[in-house]
Amino acid sequence: MPTTRAPSIRSRKWWALWGLMALSAVGFAVGSVPPYLTGDAADAPLPLNPDVALHYLSLMVHAVPGGLALALGPLQFVSRLRVRRPKLHRVVGRTYMISVVIASIAAAVNAAVTISGFAVQVAFYILVIAWLYTLTMAYRNIRRGEVQLHRIWMIRNYTLTFAAVTLRVYLLLGLQLSPSLGFEAIYTSAVWASILGNVLIAEYFIVQRMLTPLARRQQRRDAPQVSTPA
Ligand code: HEM
Repeated sequence: MPTTRAPSIRSRKWWALWGLMALSAVGFAVGSVPPYLTGDAADAPLPLNPDVALHYLSLMVHAVPGGLALALGPLQFVSRLRVRRPKLHRVVGRTYMISVVIASIAAAVNAAVTISGFAVQVAFYILVIAWLYTLTMAYRNIRRGEVQLHRIWMIRNYTLTFAAVTLRVYLLLGLQLSPSLGFEAIYTSAVWASILGNVLIAEYFIVQRMLTPLARRQQRRDAPQVSTPA
């Protein structure tokens, strides 16, 4: 009689977290990108720089591929899909990479012309560099056939992509909990917190879930064999 194994608590927890991440990523993309599809600068929810005629266009070139990368990313972490449909994984992966490259170039322009202040500009420049660096590392590793390293760098990269969501969550929370601080202070803090918080979560996950089991296996393999006397 065929037996079906009940999913473990760990696997259920993973699916719950994955579902939450995928839903909020798609939800944010669907909610935030449409104002940049109309082609009308008056629809921009963000205050535009009056001295930069193409500010809306650069936000459009950033938000549309950014939204696509955000929505596609979660698919790439489903092992079953990766194993059963490797071609789909490659096509989605390439689309994701191209989207991140376009969105990050436009993000650098947006950071240069934003009227949100110097502290926000610095944070976004760091994010652009980290976004492109982690993507390059992920790409180089997969070209060399180093699958585990590719996974690690993609986790780092998508966590940075996901900063777009956590930024808005912190912003909303800040505005609800401490409106007296003022929009500028809350926005600046939310930008920095979204980057640092996401990086810490990614590194915790990578060390606990991927590197620690690997190190333990290696240690067991390297441990001297104790032979019992005959
Ligand atoms: C992770 C790297 C990212 C960087 C460095 C970045 C950078 C920026 C910058 C500099 C701005 C202008 C902000 C301002 O003037 O205060 C901006 C706005 C925006 N970004 Fe990103 N971004 C990133 C990821 C994403 C992603 C993945 C999305 C997905 C949809 C996205 C969607 C938007 C939208 C919709 C806006 C316009 C603001 C709004 O309407 O809320 N960004 N981004």
